[in-house]
Amino acid sequence: MNGLLELALVAAQRAADLLVEGWAQREVVSTKSSGTDVVTQMDRGSEALLIEALLDQRPDDGVIGEEGGRREGTSGVTWVIDPLDGTVNYLYGLPVWGVSVGALVDGIPQVGVVNAPALGSVWAGALSEHRMATHNGTAIAVSDCSSLDQALVATGFGYRSEVRAEQAAIVAQLLPEVRDIRRAGAAAVDMCWVAQGCVDAYFERGTHLWDRAAATVICRAAGAEVIGPDGGEATDALTIAGNPGLAQQLRARLMDAELS
Ligand code: IPD
Ligand code: CA
Repeated sequence: MNGLLELALVAAQRAADLLVEGWAQREVVSTKSSGTDVVTQMDRGSEALLIEALLDQRPDDGVIGEEGGRREGTSGVTWVIDPLDGTVNYLYGLPVWGVSVGALVDGIPQVGVVNAPALGSVWAGALSEHRMATHNGTAIAVSDCSSLDQALVATGFGYRSEVRAEQAAIVAQLLPEVRDIRRAGAAAVDMCWVAQGCVDAYFERGTHLWDRAAATVICRAAGAEVIGPDGGEATDALTIAGNPGLAQQLRARLMDAELS
């Protein structure tokens, strides 16, 4: 596992450097699920760099990348990468964006790195026998907030208008019942902030595996639960993260009110 973590750290750092170097020249080259779901040339450049860096060292691994990089492997290791999480922030010159590199071993998230250079933050995590979660090399832990009404809750919104309307309805119901809501613009960073105790919990409908794979490892290694609508594995339909008691409270609240 150590080798995977080292490789993820090196590859994510190289991609982060590329994104910083190219930030001033960013331009939209395409859109995806809606006209506001943009892709810059830097999303693609970062993904190409990551795939090359990872497969150069481990040619038998598989890859799932947000920008289309797909490769079946034979080693049992699959890299799940978001080459630029928080693209809209990156486009507007806001600092909350990062590179997310996760490794699944036999389908289970085991290693994760999220590198957010404009925040000066690198989060790393590993499960299995080398369990660790760090921020810039220092061990981190999820908050001990035990009550939803005291919780600072991060969330995010998708790019499609009809999904947004449902997400807004959820936030409207939840906002009076929690300390406050944060929408920073990068799911992987939101989840790492849960791992670090900078927010107490996170939930979002409509994420993808590349948004959450790396950060799931970091959260779990820091003592958080990352769960889906039925309390099992997080799904694209719903991801919830927080300390175990709080994650369960948030899940119950979302389900009770038929919010998810
Ligand atoms: C998005 C961001 C955003 C979240 C969306 C994601 P992208 O990823 O993480 O915070 O709310 O669900 O799609 O498009 O910037 O890689
Ligand atoms: Ca992305």
